[in-house]
Amino acid sequence: MLSPLSASSLVSSLLWTAAHASTSMLYVSSYSGKVTTLDLTTCSSSSSSSSATAGVPKLRTVSSTDGCAGSPSWLTLDHGRSTLFCVDEGLQSGGGTLSSFQTNADGTLAKLDKLDTPPGPVSGALLMRGRDDGTNTHVRSGGSAFSTWDVSNPSRITPVQTETFKSTKPPANPDRQNAPHPHEAFLDPTGRFIAVPDLGTDEIRLFAVGSTANLTVEPLPPVAVAPGSGPRHVAFAVKGGRTFMYLVTELANTIVGYRVTYPAGGIELAELWTIGTHGKGKPASKSAYAAEIVVSPDQNFAVVSSRNENNFSIPNLDAGNSTAMASDPIINFAIDGATGALSAIQEVPAGGRFPRQFSMNKAGTLIAVGLQSDGRVVLIKRDPQSGKLGEFAGYAELAGQITSVMFNE
Ligand SMILES: *[C@@H]1O[C@H](CO)[C@@H](O)[C@H](O)[C@H]1NC(C)=O
Ligand SMILES: *[C@@H]1O[C@H](CO)[C@@H](O)[C@H](O)[C@H]1NC(C)=O
Ligand SMILES: *[C@@H]1O[C@H](CO)[C@@H](O)[C@H](O)[C@H]1NC(C)=O
Repeated sequence: MLSPLSASSLVSSLLWTAAHASTSMLYVSSYSGKVTTLDLTTCSSSSSSSSATAGVPKLRTVSSTDGCAGSPSWLTLDHGRSTLFCVDEGLQSGGGTLSSFQTNADGTLAKLDKLDTPPGPVSGALLMRGRDDGTNTHVRSGGSAFSTWDVSNPSRITPVQTETFKSTKPPANPDRQNAPHPHEAFLDPTGRFIAVPDLGTDEIRLFAVGSTANLTVEPLPPVAVAPGSGPRHVAFAVKGGRTFMYLVTELANTIVGYRVTYPAGGIELAELWTIGTHGKGKPASKSAYAAEIVVSPDQNFAVVSSRNENNFSIPNLDAGNSTAMASDPIINFAIDGATGALSAIQEVPAGGRFPRQFSMNKAGTLIAVGLQSDGRVVLIKRDPQSGKLGEFAGYAELAGQITSVMFNE
């Protein structure tokens, strides 16, 4: 599928660079209504093993705000501009909002703006256009809509565009697919295209980013995914000039691999294979709901979380508590740079139940996991060379269901 857009006029680029400082804070969104800042300097960063009986360090809360209430569901950080965006799913209000905050060095968040959005947003992304002209866009998806906002002045967010989707065929899974459910807005590695997995219609919707002067994005023909699979989240890997995309499906619990090419300035997704979220030949439990996928900064590993399996039992993170904890899995894959194939290398406990979302730090030494059902955040150590996930480096118990976690970098 080709886009008629020519690449030559596009100057968009992702500018997630600025940070050289080591990560010292984590922002956490929760359905409690709060966005909380956790201090990571209290976590054990040494790679020496700490025995289970010593417990896991507790992360200190340095700040919290209800500026994104009622139901904060996703955080997006513009680190270069010290701005945090938060979407509120509006579970009680039936609406939705987008908030912006200035991030301060002491961890506090100062509210800048808040606007109503179409109902039920669950994801956001930042689209940077041009280095100097200060225009950028926050895109979000959820409910049955996809919207973009001009956030070049985060104190005065301006709506740009809303695309409301319609189902064009009867759903394969009427219980979960009664309407379009765009679940994420994700920029491709060129910053020129946006992928929006639609759980409700079994499609990956695609948008082309316009020129710097024109903030409108252009809908492209969607890519169909297996009926009833429930596309949820995607991640890209760029290896030796080849681009691959990995789609996690929530209802079929699969990972679908794609080769991504850019013929004539458009984007084309060629489906390569489908494997289970636990790897080839390992079917996931029927009750599972796959959630998040993240590709490591070195593009060598893909990490996936699965919910509602709870087949790990782990020692309590609190050394003073002898009751074991149930945990869902995080599954770790190595990426074959030549073919894009994923091979499972490891399965580790996520640290609790319902790892809805997780983030990896830029150094690749930590992942932070938001455990929705337990109101818990855990940090897991990671060896950036081998990609192997190790022990828990820290944790925090917070109010409400955790929806997303974001390193301040
Ligand atoms: C902006 O870009 C969109 C999508 O490419 C296009 O449909 C629209 O006509 C453009 N608007 C202007 C004013 O150029
Ligand atoms: C959990 O269940 C999955 C899917 O059935 C299986 O592949 C995995 O090995 C199990 N893990 C543990 C620790 O039992
Ligand atoms: C001990 O841990 C269990 C499992 O997480 C929890 O349900 C229980 O409330 C904890 N007990 C205390 C006293 O904190």
